[in-house]
Amino acid sequence: MEQIENRRSIRKYQNRKVEKEKIVQILESARLAPSGSNTQPWTFIIVESKDTKEKLILADHNQTWMLEAPIFIVGVADIRCRISMDTEIRLDENSAEPELKQIIRDTAIAIEHILLESEHQGLAACWTAWFEQDDVRPILNIPEDKYVCGIITLGYSDETPKQRPRKAIEEIVRYETW
Ligand SMILES: Cc1cc2nc3c(=O)[nH]c(=O)nc-3n(C[C@H](O)[C@H](O)[C@H](O)COP(=O)(O)O)c2cc1C
Repeated sequence: MEQIENRRSIRKYQNRKVEKEKIVQILESARLAPSGSNTQPWTFIIVESKDTKEKLILADHNQTWMLEAPIFIVGVADIRCRISMDTEIRLDENSAEPELKQIIRDTAIAIEHILLESEHQGLAACWTAWFEQDDVRPILNIPEDKYVCGIITLGYSDETPKQRPRKAIEEIVRYETW
């Protein structure tokens, strides 16, 4: 609960490098995430190059605050754990493949592990996803049968925002039936 309660989306970062061991631990937390039929449809691309970060930011609705973060982790979902390579597939925001929902669901769990382990390592992160597949994929040479679920900024926080509002428990829980 400590990490869950203290985690915030952080949009200001210190000019401070992140230790490699912390990144390894954060990626390990993603590796251990659960997934439907244990398909583990995720791949994570670590981006530290300023040039690549700038291109990703431009694709991600030009959220310029992101540039301060020393590292981006791009979470990519792969439908090939559910649909064979023989079937031609091009995924985007309008794709109808039911399996797309499953791989996004599973990769989202792994990304949440990243957010929580980042907090546990004394780091800060923000999941961003204000982009179109066709804008982000070419920057990182991601094939068109993959789906980018998020660009996570990572670094040491330079702000301490208050807890953002959440619905009351009575609003989100029902008992026995809808
Ligand atoms: C799937 C997803 C996409 C998001 N995309 C963005 C984004 O593009 N830019 C941004 O500043 N925050 C983004 N956020 C962060 C949310 O705004 C944030 O989680 C929410 O306001 C609650 O704040 P908290 O994370 O500090 O509790 C995203 C969060 C999620 C889960």
